[in-house]
Formats: sequence, C-alpha cells, structure tokens
Amino acid sequence: MENKKYYITTPIYYPSGNFHVGTCYCTIVADAIARYKRLRGYDVFFMTGTDEHGQKVERKAKEANKSPKEYVDNIVADVKELWKILGISYDKYIRTTDEDHKAIVQKIFKKLYEKGDIYLDSYEGLYCTPCESFWTETQLVDGKCPDCHRDVELVREESYFFRLSKYQDRLLKYYEEHKEFLEPEIRKNEMLKSFFEKGLEDLCVSRTTIDWGIKVPFDPKHVVYVWLDALTNYITGLGYLTENDEKFKKYWPADLHLVGKEIFRFHAIIWPAILMALDLPLPKKVYGHGWLVVNGNKISKSFNNYKDPRVYINKTSVDSLRYFLLKEVTMGSDGNFSEDIFIERCNSDLSNDLGNLVSRVTAMIEKYNNGVLQNDNCKEAVDDELIENSLKLVQSVEKLMDDLRINEALIEIWKVISSANKYIDLTMPWILAKEGKKERLNTVLYNLIETIRIVTITLRSYMVEIPQKIFEQLNVPSELTSWESAKTFGKMKNGTIVKKGDNLFPRIEKKEGIFDVEEEKKETVEVKKEEPKKEQKQVDEKGYITIDELSNVELKVGQIKEVERVENADKLYKLSVDVGEENLRTIVSGIVPYYTKEELLNKQIVVVTNLKPAKLRGIVSQGMLLAAGETEVVKLLTLDGETGIIENGTRIH
Ligand code: MSP
Repeated sequence: MENKKYYITTPIYYPSGNFHVGTCYCTIVADAIARYKRLRGYDVFFMTGTDEHGQKVERKAKEANKSPKEYVDNIVADVKELWKILGISYDKYIRTTDEDHKAIVQKIFKKLYEKGDIYLDSYEGLYCTPCESFWTETQLVDGKCPDCHRDVELVREESYFFRLSKYQDRLLKYYEEHKEFLEPEIRKNEMLKSFFEKGLEDLCVSRTTIDWGIKVPFDPKHVVYVWLDALTNYITGLGYLTENDEKFKKYWPADLHLVGKEIFRFHAIIWPAILMALDLPLPKKVYGHGWLVVNGNKISKSFNNYKDPRVYINKTSVDSLRYFLLKEVTMGSDGNFSEDIFIERCNSDLSNDLGNLVSRVTAMIEKYNNGVLQNDNCKEAVDDELIENSLKLVQSVEKLMDDLRINEALIEIWKVISSANKYIDLTMPWILAKEGKKERLNTVLYNLIETIRIVTITLRSYMVEIPQKIFEQLNVPSELTSWESAKTFGKMKNGTIVKKGDNLFPRIEKKEGIFDVEEEKKETVEVKKEEPKKEQKQVDEKGYITIDELSNVELKVGQIKEVERVENADKLYKLSVDVGEENLRTIVSGIVPYYTKEELLNKQIVVVTNLKPAKLRGIVSQGMLLAAGETEVVKLLTLDGETGIIENGTRIH
C-alpha cells in the first residue's frame, strides 16, 4: 500500500527584517506543494522556521542595542505575520533557539563525538560571516565570498571537526544508486564537479569566538557551528532523540527538502553525511531551486533591489503575488522579477482570463436563468473538447506536480481557462438567449460552471483566497471541491443558485512608481488624521473646544531610549520610549530626514499616549510624538532645559 505521509521542509531563514519576494519564493513553492499533497489525501507535515544563532545575529543585535534573543523575537513575530499574510500553511515553525532543539543538537553532537565522527583539532580558514561559510583561497572570487561578494575574514582557532571526508565514497555511491535524490540534474552535476573532484575535507563544526549559539555539551567554550545547528532542525523538529518522537517515527525520512541553489551543497553533502553518521535514512529528495533576480542580480539586501512583498499584495492580492511567483519562475531555474510583467500577468492571466470567465458566466446565469443552474443535456460536438480538456486537467496537473514542475501545471490550468473563454465565443450564449434556445443555453452555461469548478479545485494548491470566493459564487457544496470530485464532469446539481460576486481580480493600472508608494507616508498620515476627526465633531461654531474635550487627549512626557531604522522604509524610525510605564512603548515616526539617531537618543519629548495603536510596516505603534511642520513632522516638541528634571510619564496639561 502507498505510504500516504509527506514531510516537506523549507530552509530555516536567517532572521532579518528584509524578507523580500525572493526570500518568500521557496516558502510559497513549498506551501503550494504541501497544499497539493493534502488535496491528494496525504498526511502532510510542512515545516519552516528560523535559523537564529551565529555571529551575524550577534552583531546585528549589538548594533540594535538588544540582546540576541530580544532581537530575534521581534523578527520572528514579523516573519510569522508575513507567512500568515501569504497564507503559508505550515504545520510547525521551528526556531533554533527553541529549548528542545538546543538540547537535541547537543545530544547529536555528543553522539557523533562518542562515535569518533567528531574530533578536536585546530582551524585556520577564511570565513564569510553573512553566509556563515568557510571558503578556501581558491574558492574566493576576487578575494571575496563567491556567494555574496563580501569580504571574508581569516579565522584561527581550536575547533571540533566532523569527519566529512570519511563519507565521500558512501555519498557518491548513494547519489549513483538514487538518481532521484538530488534535483535538478544540472545542480547535482555542478556540485559533484566543484566539490568531489577536489575531494571532501573534514568540516569545522564548532567556534570559540562566538557566544550566541548552542554550547558543545562537554566543552562549553565551543559553540556548535551554525550549519550543524541549522541542518539538524529537520529532525529535531520531529522530536528525534526525545521521548516524544512519534512524529519522527512517522514522518522521517523527509520526502522533500526544498532549498535555494546556494545552499544546495549543504543539503546534498553535509546533511546526508551527518545522517549517515547518525545511522539515519536520507531524505527522499533535495531540490535546489533557482533565485528570483532583477536584471541578473539576486534580489537581496546587499544589492538594494528588494521590496517588502506586502507592497505588492496591498496593490493586488495575495493570490496575485503567489500566482506570479509560481508561474513566472520555471522550477529549478532563476526567474526574473519585473514589476511591469507582474502587472501584465495580473491584468491578462488573472483579470482577463480567470476573473472575466467567472464574472461572465455567473452574470449570464443570473441574466438568462435567474441564477439557476440547469443542465438540459442539449449537447453539441463543440462541448466535447471543453469537457475532455477539463477531465484531462487533473491528470496532467497530478503528473506535473508530482514531478515538481509547478509552473508547467499552471500553464496547463490556464489552457483550460482559455478553452472555456473560447467556448463562450464559439457558443455565443447571448445569441442563444436572443433566439430563445433555452435548453442549449442552459447546457452551455452548465458546462462552463463545471469547467470553472474543476479549474478552481486545481487552483487550490496555489491560491489561498480566490478558490473559496469562486466556490461561493458558484455555490459549490464542499464535497464537490475535493480533488477526487474534479475527476468527474457533471457533478453540480440542477437547481443550484449561482450568484455573481465581486470582481475577483480588479485591473491594475500600469503607472510609474505604482509600487514605490512609501507606505509609511500614507499610513503616518492616516494615523495623524485620526485625532482631528474626533475633535472636529466636537468643536462649536467658533471653533472652540471645552477643557473637558481637551483632556480626552492624554499627553505625557516621554524619553527616547532606543532608536532603530525601520527596514526598507526611508523615513521611519522605530523608537522605544519611556513614558513612565513598566515597559517601553514602541512608537514609529517618520522623522529620519530630520533627526539622527544620536540627536534623538535620550531626548524628552511629548507623547500622545491614548492614541489607538496603529500598525506601520508591520510594527504596532503605541502612541504618537508631537511635532511641528506643515505637512511633514519637522521639529519635535521637546522639554525645555536639562533632561531628568521632569520625570518620564508626567502628565502634560
Ligand atoms: N539559514 C540558512 C538556511 C539553513 S537551512 C538548514 C539560509 N537562510 S537564508 O535566509 O539566507 O535563505 C533562506 C532561503 O531563501 C534560501 O533557500 C535562499 O536560497 C532563499 N532566497 C534568498 N533570496 C532569494 C532569492 N532572491 N530568490 C530565491 N530564493 C532566495 O540560507
């Protein structure tokens, strides 16, 4: 009997406030696969998470004047919110700072040490901190990290090593015997060439110069190298080496590790070798997908070519962005992210093809048959092609999805959408209505509804809101939204009431800078407007307010304790302000052009403390600073004289 479990993972992400469409790509692909497998009846376990240790995080936290844990906690909250917006249906979110993960990594380290696969030696090498990778001189490009093109540093220290070299032959044999293990083929060949030709070297798996990491249990001046800590998440997340290991027993080995191409080698060489050393079975497949690029450059913070995916979602919809990324990137290859092409796809594929199909068909049923679906079985030859295309769709999508050819599956779906639109042009329901051919008209409309139902079922893997909206308009009962039900044409019942709904994909106007809106400007204005609106209602004819009305606004003395730039926002600072409460308040303010961080630190200012919290760039702002300026905040209202004379939190009357 077929094993119906499916364990799929994404890489665990470095905590960064710069999640862009590139970073989201892998998780969206994994989500589409997880949704597809669930539709097919698999018991899916989909895991994603964050890789929170290491020097890079330690440094960034220091820059932000935070403890590493505080620093990562904030980011993780933001990442989880983004995944929610994107409809990522993960079953577990693992953090490498989770206590159980840390304890299991220590057990794994000890186990490998006791087995002799980890030993103590000393290390000298070139290290790229942002990539957490060691490189040899010959691997550098122009003396810099070959992945991110940044400087590397010479590191010399006592280290523990993993006997990677010992596993070279077993790995090669495994690749040979399991052709499906590493995909795509081209990536596998590149890797074999660049790493195995020179021979594998043992891997340094501990550092003594970093604090922020998991301590080696029997030698705590060492912390576990971040990649060993990170890779093992795939089994620690299932409870490996704990009493609660039912998930591990059920789901391991993973069916698919989906990773970006630059980290393919870690998953194709180091991870399988660790698993071999632990006597565990290897994952069934590691797939190295390509990057999203802009003009040939990877979308990345270092190239300054990234935007928050929320910008695109706000202007279109979550399903528009998901569709675009899944369709535009051929699995395994790099894909170009172009805002112009994104708009074109939104307007042509989504608005014209799919959106119009649904609205035309539902509108015609409302107009010609009072919204009642009625199959009068008045068939004509032209119906056969549409019905056949719809019926073949599920099969072809299954085949393509099982082969991870996601964009090709979407191409197949769109072929059926186009054939439905063509069918409308050929059958011309409006002429049938005019000529009083009621039975034929009803049959045509019925065929179209069934086609839309089947197409929508297949869309459930890729889109998270639209399928439900379509099912509602078509009034499809839930049992007819299942994968199995898409294999039969003609399941909708006569008498079903169909109702045209809102436009599924409003057209996007292609105008210069449409995605350059500085959200913060818009949102700041909205927040500021809130207060006058309330006040306006209360002013009398002379424009006066009473003292009681003024006292509705709670003003307090606050002191700025921490200042941080909001990632990807030109004007916003995230301030932590002491207003005399137990915790500091977070206030987001658009004053970057007018004040440096140093000028702001420790300033005593005036804060509106009872303003309804508002979210700016994903950060909840809990108040507002008073400031002067016509349209922009130019000068803050501050307290006269030395700071500290008036206590923070003092009311202002
Ligand atoms: N923490 C490691 C992974 C450890 S897994 C045991 C890491 N993190 S990352 O945040 O830098 O990258 C996470 C994933 O995002 C990688 O698979 C990477 O390829 C992917 N992407 C980052 N930028 C990308 C694009 N521009 N396009 C597509 N994927 C991209 O590596």
